[in-house]
Amino acid sequence: MPEIAPVTPASYQALAAFLAGFDGDPDTPETWISRFDFWWDRNPSARETDTPRGWIVRDGERVGGFFGVIPMAFQVLGEEMPALNATTWRVDEAHRNLSMKLMLRAIQAGKRTLLFNTTPNDKVVPMLESLKFRPLHTLTSPGQSRACGLLPLNPEPFLRARLPGALRPLSGALRPMINTYQNFRLRGLDRETLPVTRLTQAGDECDDLWRRTRDQYRTTAVRSAEAINWYCFRKDRPDMILLGCRDGGRLRGYAILWDRSDRNSRKLECVDLWIEENDRDIVQSLVSHTRALAGEMKFDIALFPHFSPALGSILGSLGLVGWQLPARKEYYSTEETRAARLAQESSFWADTHGDTSFFP
Ligand SMILES: CC(C)(COP(=O)(O)OP(=O)(O)OC[C@H]1O[C@@H](n2cnc3c(N)ncnc32)[C@H](O)[C@@H]1OP(=O)(O)O)[C@@H](O)C(=O)NCCC(=O)NCCS
Repeated sequence: MPEIAPVTPASYQALAAFLAGFDGDPDTPETWISRFDFWWDRNPSARETDTPRGWIVRDGERVGGFFGVIPMAFQVLGEEMPALNATTWRVDEAHRNLSMKLMLRAIQAGKRTLLFNTTPNDKVVPMLESLKFRPLHTLTSPGQSRACGLLPLNPEPFLRARLPGALRPLSGALRPMINTYQNFRLRGLDRETLPVTRLTQAGDECDDLWRRTRDQYRTTAVRSAEAINWYCFRKDRPDMILLGCRDGGRLRGYAILWDRSDRNSRKLECVDLWIEENDRDIVQSLVSHTRALAGEMKFDIALFPHFSPALGSILGSLGLVGWQLPARKEYYSTEETRAARLAQESSFWADTHGDTSFFP
C-alpha cells in the first residue's frame, strides 16, 4: 500500500531516481543528491532530526510523489525557529490521490513556524489560495510589484530593449550623454565613506553584528555566521558575493549580491542588505563598492530592492533610479493567530527566503 513518509537520508536514492525520472526533468539523480546535500545535510537549520525535510509517497522500494521543504534559520515574532521553504511538488499519475496529503503535511508543519511557497505554477496558485495561503507582498510591500533602486552601469542594453527598432542604432551615440548624466546624479557614490571588503567567509564578527541588531525587527531571517556561510558559500552558486562594511574595525553591515542576468542584460542583484541602525554611511559604502565591483565585472546594472521603507529612502537619496521589479507569486502560510500578529509587528524581508535561490 502506498503511504506518506517523511524524507530521511534513507530515502534519498529512491527520491533522486523519482525526481530525475519525472516527466521533463533535465537533471540526473546525482544532481538531485547534491541538492539534498545542500538543502538538508549541510544545512545548519536541518540538524535536528525532527526538522522536516519534506514528505514522499512511498510505494514499496519506490517513491511515487514528493513535497520538499528546505528549512532556513528565521526569527519569527522574536523567536528563533527554522522557517520552511516549499519546493518541488511532484506526484506521478498513479499516486495523485495522495497529492493533497503531501501538501497538507507541509501546511501542518508550517503552523508552528512560517511556510513559504514562492514558485507555484498557474495550476497551484488557486490551490494555495483555497488553502488560505496569504500573498507575501501583504507583509513585504503594500503594492504587488517590488520597489527597487537601480544603479545604471552600461545603459546600452536597456536602451536597445526600449527604443523602437528604427532608433536602436542611436543607443551607442546616446551612451556618453547618459553616462555623464548618471555620473553627476550618482556623484555621492564616487568613494566609500567606510571601508568595504569582499568576505570569503562569515566569522565571529557576523555573530556579533547579529547579536547587536536582531531586535531591530521582530520577524526576519537569522543572520548568524553559520546561516550566512550556508547560504553564501556553496558549490551551486560560486557567483554569490558577500560584502562587509566596517567602522573602526567593527562589522557594521553587509550585502549579499548575485548574478541575475537574463538574455536582455547582465544584472547584479542585492538579495540581502543588513545594516546597523539604518545608517546612511553604511548603505552608501556598500552601494558605492558594489558600483565599482559591478563595473569591473561588466554588469549592465546593479539592483537594490527596498527591503524596508527606511532603506528605500536612503537608496533614493543616494541617486539610485527608482524602479519596479515585476510582481511575484509568493505565498506564506502559518497558524492564524501568528498570521494576524505578523501583519502588525515589524518585519524585514530580504530576498533570501523561498526556493528560488536554492536551485542553481
Ligand atoms: C502539482 C501536482 C502535485 C498536483 O497534484 P494533482 O493530484 O494533480 O492535484 P489536483 O489537480 O487533483 O488537485 C488537488 C486538490 O487541489 C484542489 N484544487 C485543484 N484545483 C483547484 C482550484 N483551481 N481551486 C481550488 N482548489 C483546487 C482540489 O481540491 C483537489 O482536491 P481533491 O483531490 O479533493 O479534488 C501534480 O499535478 C504534479 O505532479 N504535477 C507536475 C509537477 C508540477 O507541476 N508541480 C507543481 C510545481 S509548482
